[in-house]
Parts: sequence; C-alpha cells; structure tokens
Amino acid sequence: MIDFKKVTFIKSSPTIEDRPEKRLPEVVFIGRSNVGKSSLLNALTSRKKLAFTSSKPGFTKLLNYYEVDGKFYLVDAPGYGYTISGSKHLDSFSKMMETYFDNEELKAVIFLVDSRHKLSKDDLDFFDFIKSKKIPFILVATKVDKLNQSEKAQMKKNILTQLGDVEFMMMSTQNERLVEEARKKICSLL
Ligand code: GTP
Ligand code: MG
Repeated sequence: MIDFKKVTFIKSSPTIEDRPEKRLPEVVFIGRSNVGKSSLLNALTSRKKLAFTSSKPGFTKLLNYYEVDGKFYLVDAPGYGYTISGSKHLDSFSKMMETYFDNEELKAVIFLVDSRHKLSKDDLDFFDFIKSKKIPFILVATKVDKLNQSEKAQMKKNILTQLGDVEFMMMSTQNERLVEEARKKICSLL
C-alpha cells in the first residue's frame, strides 16, 4: 500500500526537460483552470496547503512534482482555457504540455471536469487527445458537493452524452470516502 501522507514537494519545472532527475512513475492532474486540480492533490495527501489553490483561474503555472511515499510523483499542472486577454503567447498549459505527454514515466492522467458545467471544447479536445495516445486516465467530476440529486443526474447525463459510455468518478474534496476511492484507483494504475 502507498502512504499518500508521506509526500514531499520536489520541484517546479517549466517543462518536462527540467523535471526531477530521479525517475519515478508520474500521475498528472489535467483540467481547465479552477476545476480543482491543486485541491484534489491536497485532499489525496491529507494536506491543506501543500499545493497552492486559488479561487482565481490560472493559478498553477508550472509542473509541480510531489514525491509520494518514495514510489511515484503526483504532478500538479497548469490548467487550460485561461489566457490573459490580448496575450499573443500560448497559455501556460499549452507551452508546458506540448512536450509533456511523450513521457514513458506517465502512468495515468487524472482528468478533471467541473460537475456544474457542460464540458468545454478544450475538455473535449483533451479527451480526444488522451484517447488517441492511449494514455490511461481517471475521469473525475469535481465539486459535487455543490450539486443536489437532480443536478447530479443531469451531470451524469451530460458526461455520457458528451463523452460516450465512459467510467467516471464523482469528487468532492470534503468527502473522504470519495478521496479514498481516488487513492485506490491511482494505486491500481501505478
Ligand atoms: P489552476 O491552478 O488555476 O489551474 O486551478 P486548479 O484546477 O488547481 O483549482 P484549485 O484547486 O486552485 O481550486 C479552485 C477553486 O475551487 C478553489 O476556490 C477551491 O477551494 C475550489 N474547490 C476545489 N475543489 C472543490 C470541491 O471539491 N468542492 C468545492 N466546493 N470547492 C472546491
Ligand atoms: Mg492549481
């Protein structure tokens, strides 16, 4: 069993070339800005402020490597779908991710979508991308604590309509049972 509480921040890398020298399997959080990537990392490791979170989108700007129990890295990544308006540059996500996925250490993508909204074009594009690359993924619908029962049913319908018959898990960082399910799922893919 992996002890998710034994976690150490190793480094922030602008690109995969600058990742930590010690090679370990990697599990990366991907999703639109503000979906809850950094918050889920904190919940999985039972820490409140290990990874910085913010109510403003575009907060995480680098690939942040966290070593878990000496066995693998959780990699917190920038979100997509957020560019400073008027900027001619690619957003932080595109820049960093161009090279990230050709990565033999990558064991799984934790693909987060916001349970309160329909999937965005970026979500759908990213889903096509990981399927075409055959990268194992865990689809996670975040912030379900904000939904009532009928909204949850609608959310399930939206996911199935937009992505087809795909397995997904509901997530709230306030629900330890759901967080524990995610830990088990991650272990099964390592
Ligand atoms: P970027 O780094 O900007 O890409 O965002 P992120 O995906 O890392 O999101 P982050 O974890 O910073 O969370 C964004 C906001 O959503 C914060 O205000 C969190 O408190 C909130 N949030 C995250 N997860 C949950 C959840 O399960 N329930 C609720 N109610 N709020 C959540
Ligand atoms: Mg973040």
